[in-house]
Amino acid sequence: MAEVRTIGVVGLGAMGAGIAQVSIEAGYDVVGREVSTGLCDAAAGRIGHFLTRKVEKGQLGAQARDAAVGRLTTTTALDDLAACDLVIEAIVEELGAKLELFAELERICRADAVLATNTSALSVTEIAAATSSAERVIGMHFFNPAPLMPLVEIVRAELSSDDAFETGCIVAERMGKTPVRCHDTPGFVVNRVLIPLLNDCIRVLDEARVTPEDLDTAMTRGAGWPMGPCTLVDLVGIDVHVHASEALYEKLREPRMAPPPRIVAMRNAGLLGRKSGRGFYTYE
Ligand SMILES: NC(=O)c1ccc[n+]([C@@H]2O[C@H](COP(=O)([O-])OP(=O)(O)OC[C@H]3O[C@@H](n4cnc5c(N)ncnc54)[C@H](O)[C@@H]3O)[C@@H](O)[C@H]2O)c1
Repeated sequence: MAEVRTIGVVGLGAMGAGIAQVSIEAGYDVVGREVSTGLCDAAAGRIGHFLTRKVEKGQLGAQARDAAVGRLTTTTALDDLAACDLVIEAIVEELGAKLELFAELERICRADAVLATNTSALSVTEIAAATSSAERVIGMHFFNPAPLMPLVEIVRAELSSDDAFETGCIVAERMGKTPVRCHDTPGFVVNRVLIPLLNDCIRVLDEARVTPEDLDTAMTRGAGWPMGPCTLVDLVGIDVHVHASEALYEKLREPRMAPPPRIVAMRNAGLLGRKSGRGFYTYE
C-alpha cells in the first residue's frame, strides 16, 4: 500500500465533514465529494467554522487553521478522487448506494489505494464484495462527533489484507485517534455491547418503575458511568438508537437487541431527544 498523503472522503454529512476536518488537521490533503455544489459549500463552511471556533478557544493557531483549510478541496465529481491513497466512505447507510459507490471507486482509484467504509451497521465484507479487489477494503468506524470522539474501530473484513488493515490503524493514529482492531461482526465492538445494554436500561424503567432521573443517578453513582443511559440515548438521538437496535436485531435475532416498545413509541411521536428538544428529558 502507498503511504497515505491524500484522503478522499465521500459524503460530507455529519460524519464525513467531521472525518474531513480531522484529516486536514492531521496534515492530510483531502478531496471531499458530495452530490451537489451546495452541499460541498455547506460542508466546507461548517468545517471552517469549527476550526475558527478552535482558534477562538486557543486550541489552534490561526496559521494552522488557514493551512488546514487550504488542504481541503471539495467536488461533485467522483473522478477527482483518482489520486487518493485512501478513500473513506461516509454516505447514507444504504447497502445499495454503498455497493454502487464501491464498484465506482474500484474503477476510479489506483490499485494500491485503500477503500474504507464508515458504516455502523452494514457488513464491511458485503460492501467489499462489490469490488473485485476486496483485499483493500476495510471498515474505519468513527464515532459522532468525529472531531471530538477519540475512538476509531478498524474493521477487518473476510478478505481484508494485513496492509490495508494496518494502513487504517496508522492513519487513525496520525489523526490523533485511538484505533482498536476488530473483525467484521454486527455492531463491531462498541455498539454490540452498548446497544443491548441501553435497551436493558430502558426496559428497567418500566420493570422497576424507576424514573429516568433516578436510573441515570443509579448508573452514574452506582456503576461509575460518566453519563446516565437516558441522557446518553437523548444525546445519540432516539431515532438513531432505534435504527441501530433494529439493524442489530435483524442480524443477531437476540431479543435484547430489539428496541423496547417504549422507545419505538417515543420515536414515532417525534420525541427524538436533544435534537428535537424532547426525549427522556426536555431541553430548552
Ligand atoms: N451519525 C452517526 O452517529 C454515525 C456514527 C458512525 C457512523 N455513521 C455512519 O456514517 C455514514 C454517514 O452517516 P451520517 O450520519 O454522516 O449521514 P448524513 O445523512 O449526515 O450524511 C450523508 C451524506 O452523504 C451524502 N451522499 C449520499 N450519497 C452520496 C454519494 N454517492 N456521494 C457523495 N455523497 C453522498 C448525502 O448528501 C449526505 O450529505 C453512515 O454509513 C452511518 O451509518 C454514522
